Amino acid sequence: MSSLGVLISGRGSNLQAIIDAIAGGRLNARVAVVISNRADAAGLERARAAGIETVVLPHKAYPDRAAYDRALATALKSRGVELVCLAGFMRLLGEGFIAEFPNAVLNVHPSLLPAFPGVDGQRQALEHGVKIAGATVHFVTADLDAGPILLQAAVPVLDGDTEETLSTRILAEEHRIYPEAIARVLAGGWQIQGRRVVFA
Ligand code: GRF
Repeated sequence: MSSLGVLISGRGSNLQAIIDAIAGGRLNARVAVVISNRADAAGLERARAAGIETVVLPHKAYPDRAAYDRALATALKSRGVELVCLAGFMRLLGEGFIAEFPNAVLNVHPSLLPAFPGVDGQRQALEHGVKIAGATVHFVTADLDAGPILLQAAVPVLDGDTEETLSTRILAEEHRIYPEAIARVLAGGWQIQGRRVVFA
């Protein structure tokens, strides 16, 4: 069974969706470790409640990004992690880290990429006035929110939406497509052709 490492910085609702998908038999994997760069991330409690090992690696304890990335990669490798899942992890990962896990780092983002990368994707969508928003699961490269796309799901933007109501609608789709994308990556048989992920 494949070992996942989940990186978080906060709430951890996508982590919970992964835990629930495994418990529900929709994802054949185990979460070997949950790592947070913040000791106060609420998601750490979710991991503990599920009996998953937690590690706090504060980025401020390292002199630079490369040193932090090395520590992160070492912590994941030493636990046999094969696929790294970013779930609200608010740190950029450098080339060095990505090279340690080729085509094996995933992220979920609250917009239909390539629209609205970076922070506050939902607010960007609302302010731009788009009528369709959504969620994206993609491979992580050293370029922010720009790696090959695995799955996307669209939601309507309603006239009465606030950032909160739109975020809630998008989040439900994140929770649905992230475990599914992980399962599809683990199932194998896909190829990356240019920027396109093509499933068998
Ligand atoms: C999600 O909206 C995710 O798309 C973004 O950060 C948020 C994390 O939420 N990258 P949670 O910590 O999984 O609840």
